[in-house]
Amino acid sequence: MIIVLLGPPGAGKGTQADLLSRRLGIPKIATGDVLRAALRDGTRRGLEAKAFMDRGDLVPDSVILGILQDVMTSPSAKNGAILDGAVRTVPQAEGLGAMLKEIGKKVDKVLLFDVEDDELVKRLSTRTVCEGCQTPYMGREPGSTCEKCGGRLVRRKDDEPEAVRNRLAVYRRQTAPVIDWYGNHKMKVLRIDADAPVDTVTARALKALGKAGSGKREKAGGK
Ligand code: AP5
Repeated sequence: MIIVLLGPPGAGKGTQADLLSRRLGIPKIATGDVLRAALRDGTRRGLEAKAFMDRGDLVPDSVILGILQDVMTSPSAKNGAILDGAVRTVPQAEGLGAMLKEIGKKVDKVLLFDVEDDELVKRLSTRTVCEGCQTPYMGREPGSTCEKCGGRLVRRKDDEPEAVRNRLAVYRRQTAPVIDWYGNHKMKVLRIDADAPVDTVTARALKALGKAGSGKREKAGGK
């Protein structure tokens, strides 16, 4: 199953992609993580993306489609993938569709994580992420240790207030039209209210995907 995750910055796409990946047994592919890893490794792709990412702008479609071509044709994605933030413009949605058609695949589900701007800004202004495995944390100071891999937690440069404002504007201008694009191409966009505890959001996502019985059960309670 190929699942596209849409949603504004801070909506919890990365958090949910990890959880859904474990529950559904298919890999998560996060273009943001791929680009940050390329930057750390000093590759041309990473260096090309750096200035766009630091400002909170989108990197060029050609770079993203190159990444998607590599990952979607690799053996690790043979049973499907969860595409976290990998489709942020209409040309990317078109390009991914055409690429998948060539290899006899298609996007099966599109999930949209919905969260109000105030909550997004609050989440991003207090987030730290692991330098190594990219796991996001709330309420942990930079310099703390990642529970998953022992890496160091840092603040992302694009979580500074000015970059966050730009990312939200970019989302509205360039990514929101992708929602209608899928709707106009006979793909129902499954809207998830993501302003709720993490486990509740996962349960909502699994239900929307028709996989409510997959993996662990939802914890009691919720926002
Ligand atoms: P990327 O890294 O994908 O950033 P983003 O889309 O802005 O998303 P974030 O990672 O900020 O948020 P998220 O929705 O994953 O939320 P998270 O789970 O971390 O991309 C970075 C940059 O790369 C882009 O700006 C662009 O330059 C470039 N790029 C990447 N893909 C591209 C593409 N396709 N085209 C062009 N350019 C591209 O959660 C946020 C925080 O909230 C965390 O601290 C988390 O712990 C917390 N949290 C999560 N869920 C909850 C909850 N339910 N309740 C309370 N807190 C929660």
